[in-house]
Amino acid sequence: MVQSQQAVDVVIMAAGKGTRMKSKLPKVLHRLAGRALLQHVVDTAAGLDARRVVVITGHGAMEVEAGLAQPARARAGFGMEFVRQEPQLGTGHAVQQAVPVLPDDGVVVVLSGDVPLTQVDTLQALISACGGNKLALLTIEFADPTGYGRIERTGSGAVQAIVEHKDASDAQRQIKEIYSGIMAVPARLLKPWLARLDNKNAQGEYYLTDVVKFAVAEGVPVVAHKISDALQVAGINSPVQLAELERAHQLRQAQAFMEQGVRLADPARFDVRGQLQCAQDVEIDVNCIFSGSVQLGEGVRIGANCVISNARIGAGAVIHPYTHIEGGHGDKEMVEVGPGALVGPFARLRPGAKLGQEVHIGNFVEVKNATMAAGAKANHLAYVGDASLGERVNYGAGSITANYDGANKHQTVIEADVHIGSNCVLVAPVTIGAGGTVGGGSTITKDTAPGALTVARATQVSVANWTRPVKQKK
Ligand code: UD1
Ligand code: CA
Repeated sequence: MVQSQQAVDVVIMAAGKGTRMKSKLPKVLHRLAGRALLQHVVDTAAGLDARRVVVITGHGAMEVEAGLAQPARARAGFGMEFVRQEPQLGTGHAVQQAVPVLPDDGVVVVLSGDVPLTQVDTLQALISACGGNKLALLTIEFADPTGYGRIERTGSGAVQAIVEHKDASDAQRQIKEIYSGIMAVPARLLKPWLARLDNKNAQGEYYLTDVVKFAVAEGVPVVAHKISDALQVAGINSPVQLAELERAHQLRQAQAFMEQGVRLADPARFDVRGQLQCAQDVEIDVNCIFSGSVQLGEGVRIGANCVISNARIGAGAVIHPYTHIEGGHGDKEMVEVGPGALVGPFARLRPGAKLGQEVHIGNFVEVKNATMAAGAKANHLAYVGDASLGERVNYGAGSITANYDGANKHQTVIEADVHIGSNCVLVAPVTIGAGGTVGGGSTITKDTAPGALTVARATQVSVANWTRPVKQKK
């Protein structure tokens, strides 16, 4: 993957306070597309095949350290470690804290925990530009570069220095090319430079960016890898910026899906907060949210306002509006909807709902940890929990499995071709034999034989010519 043979060690600066978020939650734990900002950066580092990732924490360190997950795609031996920076004396001081845990033989890539959308191939290009013996800076041109460090070049174009905005002259402030905050540099060059930093500048901070001057003085080549995609270097400082980057990111994802052939009713009202895979001819109406891992088979249609997480939906299935599918992690908890199934509107599929081919789930039906075989139907107002329903079972309106005795959950088995009438209570554990019928309003507490009609309710009584009481006059 990485062109240079040298190992890559990533340093992620995440000690800053993030005052402008005005939140108790540390800034880098705020979420973009369902993942903490810092998690995006750690996952990118894993995608880079990094040898180790050193996260510099300070403000909210305990929470930040506890809030991170091991990246899904980390290679074997991927090590994430935390180094504390107390107090926070600048970006140079932040990277100094990592020196004891950085091997001398690697290329160090410096990232920020609040810049979530840098792409792996961009960083690979930066590492190639570093080439194991240069200082490589990721840069970009901004129409309004206010606040950023400027890339100062000589007449011939060679990078000479990064000048922080607060230290820059009026002439330097005209420079549009800025430093993104991301660099790649061999550890053996970086370490002695870090040791020489001082804080004699407008902010009284140890600037990491001062290493450029040292490189130039020593004749180490400094190369700028300039990109044009601002999203990749966008940092988050405020809720407004977080929402803006979220929308920009979602729009980009939406465009990628449409390019694959997915038909989105409105790319501005489409959110993926995880992994979505779509086969051919998928149609998605407005305001749908996909999270965790979701697979949509060929020709699947998703109605408006559906929220779907951790689910596999088979070819030709239709999910009608306002359906909530909330599968869990792993095969057992994942929700499965079979080919040609119809679900919703207003249906709720919870962890472990497994629906076979052409199952119908109607409005206000909740299914949890239950299997429904091909052709089974529960069309109205029902609860199916901890149950298995055989093929072609018809499960009447208002019926429920009473699966919980107050202490334990029990299983309901409804064999093939059973007809459950309306408003039945199936008190688990209980089995309804194949082809049987349960009369409406029954409370079933005992197993029933195959083919039998079972009615378990008070016998109907009629009193002829009944006179209703009349209101007494005072
Ligand atoms: C930095 C760069 C600037 C660049 C800009 C890009 C320096 C001196 N300047 O400026 O050239 O244009 O990024 O966004 O590096 N942090 C710590 N410990 C500290 C200070 C900061 O961990 O003591 C972390 C912050 O949490 C943040 C990152 O480092 O994640 C960058 O710090 P920030 O203060 O935002 O840097 P800028 O002043 O924006
Ligand atoms: Ca600063």
